[in-house]
Amino acid sequence: MENRSRVMSRELLDIQKNYCCKINEIYAERGINRPLAFTQTFGCQQNEADTELIRGMLALMGFDFTDDMASADVIIVNTCAIRDHAEQRVYGNVGELSHIKKENPSAITVLCGCMAQQQHVAERIKNSYPYVDIVFGTYALSRFPQLLYTRLSSGKRVFDLDGDEKGIIIEDIEPVRKKGHKAWLSIMYGCNNFCSYCVVPYVRGRERSREPEAVLREFESLVRQGYKDITLLGQNVNSYGNDLGGKCDFPDLLRKINDIPGDFWVRFMTSHPKDATKKLFDTMAECEKVCASIHLPVQAGSDRVLQDMNRRYTAEKYLSLVDYARKLMPNLTITSDIIVGFPGETNEEFQETIELLEKVRFDSLFTFIFSPRRGTKAYDMPDVLTKEEKQKNFDRLLEVQNRISKEKNDLYVGKTVKVLVGREENEKNYNNEYTKQSRTEGFKLVYLRGAEGLEGQFVNAVIERSSTWALFGAVIEREQR
Ligand code: SAH
Ligand code: SF4
Ligand code: F3S
Repeated sequence: MENRSRVMSRELLDIQKNYCCKINEIYAERGINRPLAFTQTFGCQQNEADTELIRGMLALMGFDFTDDMASADVIIVNTCAIRDHAEQRVYGNVGELSHIKKENPSAITVLCGCMAQQQHVAERIKNSYPYVDIVFGTYALSRFPQLLYTRLSSGKRVFDLDGDEKGIIIEDIEPVRKKGHKAWLSIMYGCNNFCSYCVVPYVRGRERSREPEAVLREFESLVRQGYKDITLLGQNVNSYGNDLGGKCDFPDLLRKINDIPGDFWVRFMTSHPKDATKKLFDTMAECEKVCASIHLPVQAGSDRVLQDMNRRYTAEKYLSLVDYARKLMPNLTITSDIIVGFPGETNEEFQETIELLEKVRFDSLFTFIFSPRRGTKAYDMPDVLTKEEKQKNFDRLLEVQNRISKEKNDLYVGKTVKVLVGREENEKNYNNEYTKQSRTEGFKLVYLRGAEGLEGQFVNAVIERSSTWALFGAVIEREQR
């Protein structure tokens, strides 16, 4: 089968595992039985999940983990390239590594991920950041043990951007996840959509889906381990299975997951509107463990802009999807991404985005000012608006959305909702008595009172007040299901 060859073979896996043993021996010879690793992740949840896989490899090498960069033997920075701001933050943090190297010259510093996959970035690191030891891109992820071994045994810097852009799917390495009740689960990698502004298809390669059996096995294992809020990840989960010869599409996968015994919620991101089908929404409505919640990035409200973005849907098509979904699931929460100031966008076209916001009334939004990415189609497209005008539109967008978010949250006051109590304390510590964080099925943040000792449990809470960003509630009963 075509896609079988995409899964890392047993032989290659064994080779990498062998490198893990050798690395362990090198540290043991240096008198370090449990070397320490520090990992830092920029970017999206997919990158978080990749870091968890890297931590899985490090665990196989005998590493423990530390939150203190200065005491680590290996420091990994997993990078993001989505906007210039993300890259600048990485360059800023990489500067910090030079101090660490001065204090501890034997520490190994590693830059990996989407930003590192770009040739111009690797060149810059090679020439201007001599204290970075290893640079590898997303295509080389499966070779990380080999790269670390090469660095440790040769003492030379290692650069690896090579690899098949079709990529290799790594199976049978157990990710080391964060403690808690929420988990990420990558069901596919890469993207085929080439939205004209976006660097992801260039730095993550083509779409490739994991076998449904592998996804289900991992999901079951997460449920056994006590995870209760599990998010399926892919750049466009709606095209899951397109490369699996029709045996399982995304709604089919959701239904199979829903059939897994246990008390859990499953959610997913991201959905591309062009591939969101009625079957998807029908399945969501029918499957009680699938959260009535969707992140459906619209990007813009003007059809002309959407076309230039190569999004392949119209505002009307988007609105009809939302309509269909809400008829089936009146309590559905919908969040979205918007790009302001895409090249060529006029103030009138921006106004169409505001109109779309007023029609859809999203629960919340992630908003970005367009950032030109090298190698993408929109990189050279000319602007109509000045920087100041774009900023003004951006501020207006936030203002409108904040009002809508608050109005939507106000509707919850007095209602009883089911929430999953998290481990996190109320860090911001505003409204002192609400000490615990929790999430609703719609992923709304609820600060709770009366939830001590209920971490990791589903409970019912009555909402007492609301703000633009969160709800505040009291636990009224433990829910049994
Ligand atoms: N695969 C996901 C999105 C991944 S990137 C999807 O298609 O929805 C997350 C968000 O970053 C995008 O939805 C978009 O709103 C924003 N984004 C991507 N490239 C950008 C750029 N060059 N400038 C500004 N925002 C960008
Ligand atoms: Fe980027 Fe578009 Fe792919 Fe999302 S669907 S990752 S925005 S190219
Ligand atoms: Fe960034 Fe790569 Fe994710 S570019 S947003 S980390 S896919």
